[in-house]
Amino acid sequence: MASFEGKVNEIAITGAASGIGLAIAQILASRGALLALADINEAALNTAKDSLPSTPDTANKHAATTVRVEDSAAVSNWIEQTKSHYGRLDGAVNMAGVYRDKGTGWTNVTDDDWETTISVNARGVFNCLRVQLKHMGEGGSIVSAASVAGRIGTGSGPYCASKWAVVGMTQSAAREAGEKGLRVNCVAPGFIETPMTDVFSVKAKETGLAKQCLHRMAQVSGDVLEDSLRSARRQALCDFPALLAYEREKETPADPSTAG
Ligand SMILES: NC(=O)c1ccc[n+]([C@@H]2O[C@H](COP(=O)([O-])OP(=O)(O)OC[C@H]3O[C@@H](n4cnc5c(N)ncnc54)[C@H](O)[C@@H]3O)[C@@H](O)[C@H]2O)c1
Repeated sequence: MASFEGKVNEIAITGAASGIGLAIAQILASRGALLALADINEAALNTAKDSLPSTPDTANKHAATTVRVEDSAAVSNWIEQTKSHYGRLDGAVNMAGVYRDKGTGWTNVTDDDWETTISVNARGVFNCLRVQLKHMGEGGSIVSAASVAGRIGTGSGPYCASKWAVVGMTQSAAREAGEKGLRVNCVAPGFIETPMTDVFSVKAKETGLAKQCLHRMAQVSGDVLEDSLRSARRQALCDFPALLAYEREKETPADPSTAG
């Protein structure tokens, strides 16, 4: 986890009203970061903002904006206003996401399931990355939500496709952004207990957990944040390599850089 001593970092977070995004917001705020929260769920977003810890430097300064991440104009406005209001943007966490799966298999996936999932999870991350890269410079860090489903063929078809897209966009953007000292990463969590997974069927949970090293759901307040703290090795915003340990090693594909 970053050390924020001596300066207030301005960090933009999508999906900040719930689950992993909210937990990240809380820990970053507790470490003195100044946050621009975004989510589609206005009521939950305002509750999230009110729940944030603050320091004398950040008291009453966290911001909350209702944004649909698939709306590129709304995402651009939010990031541009955040940069212009605070004069800086040091980090971004792109966690907004949806999971649509009725558990009835590939042949029953609807066009709407596909459109919604790709729009929010893939287009949403693209919209965020594009404008964040424009407004962040050396020392900045962007972390987006992929999933174990972005590394192996698991979960629903649209979700899996959307998360492979996040991994690909992250690798592509990281190469370009690295030239100006800006880091772009994504995380690939396994099963984490959040409102997204609360609604999974018993069968889906059993299938997912059978593949997970822990054989239980990871907890945002414990495993995720503790591992993120433990695994931080550099002056990073938040870097979650330890989450990959939740995947089964044998299911991890070969290093893409060596693939034919
Ligand atoms: N929970 C898991 O097991 C798990 C595993 C791997 C990856 N992920 C990914 O992590 C991210 C966070 O998941 P979570 O479990 O915290 O889910 P969650 O449902 O608790 O939180 C997702 C948040 O995204 C917001 N959101 C949804 N659609 C949006 C939109 N169009 N625009 C803006 N905000 C929108 C929701 O309102 C919600 O606050 C997601 O991208 C998810 O795919 C989750």
